[in-house]
Amino acid sequence: MSHQTTRPQETIAILTSGGNCPGLNDAILGAMQRAQEAGYKVLGVSNGYEGLLSPDGLHQIVEPPQNLRRRAGSILGLSRVNPAPPGNEALFKKNCDTIGETIRKHAVRFLIAIGGDDTLRATGRLAEAGILRANGVPKTIDNDVSATDRTFGFETAVKVGMEHAAGMRIEAELYRRVAIVETMGRNAGWIALEVGDRSAADVVLIPEADVSTEDIVAAVTRTMEAKGNALIVVSEGFQMGGKLTCSDGTVDPHGHEKLGGVRLALESRLRDEGLKTTSMAVSYAHRFAAPTEEDADFASALGRKAVDAALQGTYGVVAVVQNGEIAATPFADVVDTRRVPVELYDSVRLNKRR
Ligand code: F6P
Repeated sequence: MSHQTTRPQETIAILTSGGNCPGLNDAILGAMQRAQEAGYKVLGVSNGYEGLLSPDGLHQIVEPPQNLRRRAGSILGLSRVNPAPPGNEALFKKNCDTIGETIRKHAVRFLIAIGGDDTLRATGRLAEAGILRANGVPKTIDNDVSATDRTFGFETAVKVGMEHAAGMRIEAELYRRVAIVETMGRNAGWIALEVGDRSAADVVLIPEADVSTEDIVAAVTRTMEAKGNALIVVSEGFQMGGKLTCSDGTVDPHGHEKLGGVRLALESRLRDEGLKTTSMAVSYAHRFAAPTEEDADFASALGRKAVDAALQGTYGVVAVVQNGEIAATPFADVVDTRRVPVELYDSVRLNKRR
């Protein structure tokens, strides 16, 4: 009689956390397929860290792979729940105990965390505390993350921004007025810069560049005199008159103020100058879009890489693209400090090229 022993199937868990971002489902798909190829069972965590903090927050992913490809949003759900809130060690310790229990209960060998730098920082802290093994995939439409050439979702966010800019250009031409498009991007101007440049906007305003209100008024007036209409692309984090515009005064669990509304301040100032204006914010349209083909492929490749590294016994790393190559870099390298260099902005700013 032969005795065949079967090894219990090992389990990995995947979570998505933070702001929505086109390509999340493709990153899940890449990670899931690589893990399944290696014989792992894959569990999804519901709603980011909210799920790891809840006894029922893990479930088998039953969606067929073809339903994930280029699908908007995240099939796992999202939240900005932060298991490692800054300055609250007691809560962190309590969360460590709860998450540790969930990880043991489901025998999770490693976690793939797909999120922004806040999520990755929190995951890194849990790993350092010995609560779990994890690798990450950075995601943000803002493209403001260090140690990677770019983030998935950015290209889609720019494409959506350009569609809005093209529409508002038509409005400006039709009614001979100034049209303003406000983009997302938090404290980095990457989205606005790309949208503005690729849409040949007359004025582009980003957080990294300090442009006086007088200079803006002068540039817009010049443009209106020259061609009778103008398109401005402004990033939500642009400080008009040295001040950030916050939409409602709230702060998220990672300490970020909710931005938005700078277009209205700008409109009001231009109207004071007798200019006819109209404005719109691209807002969530940047990120509720389905990813472009390119973003989808990129996100999947990163998901696969994060699992690959774990399969080779490397934990505590994040899948990135460096000099065009998919690579892995320690969690600590990923911070949201990547900003538009002034020289790059100078080539696009204030109607100087046109
Ligand atoms: O970081 C991504 C982002 O979309 C920013 O561009 C924006 O400021 C922020 O998230 C808005 O987040 P929410 O409204 O979901 O808190």
